[in-house]
Amino acid sequence: MSDFTGKVAFITGAARGQGRACALALAKEGADIAALDLGVKIEYPAYAHEAGGDLLSLRAEIEKLGRRCLLCLGDVRDDAAITAAVAQTIAAFGKIDILFNNAGICAYAEIDVMTDTEWDARIDINLKGPMIVARRVVPHMKAQKSGVIINNSSVMGLRGGNRLSHYVASKWGLTGLTKAWAIELVPYNIRVVSIHPTGVNTPMNDGLAAMEGLTTIEIAERSAGNLQPVPWVEPEDVAEMVLYLASDKARYITGSQFLLDAGLLSV
Ligand SMILES: NC(=O)c1ccc[n+]([C@@H]2O[C@H](COP(=O)([O-])OP(=O)(O)OC[C@H]3O[C@@H](n4cnc5c(N)ncnc54)[C@H](O)[C@@H]3O)[C@@H](O)[C@H]2O)c1
Repeated sequence: MSDFTGKVAFITGAARGQGRACALALAKEGADIAALDLGVKIEYPAYAHEAGGDLLSLRAEIEKLGRRCLLCLGDVRDDAAITAAVAQTIAAFGKIDILFNNAGICAYAEIDVMTDTEWDARIDINLKGPMIVARRVVPHMKAQKSGVIINNSSVMGLRGGNRLSHYVASKWGLTGLTKAWAIELVPYNIRVVSIHPTGVNTPMNDGLAAMEGLTTIEIAERSAGNLQPVPWVEPEDVAEMVLYLASDKARYITGSQFLLDAGLLSV
């Protein structure tokens, strides 16, 4: 395992699911964590809720590991909130070594009934959000001439998905941002990669199930189609991949797409 002692990670969508698992895994290996998530319940999608309690319990878990955790409340669409969160992180920890652009939402909609609200939320949170966060973090990485940005796309950032055109568009967009930023930031020794999980066992699936009137396992099985006989992978599997990509072991990896798909894209 890599040693992240002295490293600082800024993680969006850190309260639950994959963001939380990655925050805990990085802290376990020695990193200090700036954990950003929603400060208020957002209007859409219905399952997204204010993250205060979850963030407090995350901080307690990280402090139990002997690491520091700065809690930041904000929406990745809100440039002022992100600017403030990045400034607070720099004030508290002095730098940001790792950005995990992870916050995202998902919900189904057919194209002929899709509303502007549904389209805009997907594009603004899943695609514009990572851009807003990166543009506030990158100046600090440029100044220190080092950094790693990991964008959480999806298998849907490399394939299509039924009734998910807005989600698919946002995630392919994030794949494109990864490649473009890798080129732009290589002179500053900043690596940029994207990860592409198949279904992951997180609260997002509970939210989708509630919206679709199904059980969570039915949602996972319907959307899976994995080659390996599992409906989903666990957030801790994602964390293993993130630990590797964030570490110096991955020093010659930039602009690349990393699948954690249980064989899905081989089918
Ligand atoms: N769960 C899956 O099956 C799956 C599969 C592949 C990729 N992904 C992607 O992984 C990422 C993490 O998803 P997850 O499965 O952990 O979901 P999750 O819903 O369990 O967690 C997402 C977190 O992001 C936060 N968030 C949502 N909108 C936000 C906003 N506007 N600003 C700040 N924070 C916000 C939520 O409050 C939540 O804590 C997402 O980008 C998602 O699209 C998920």
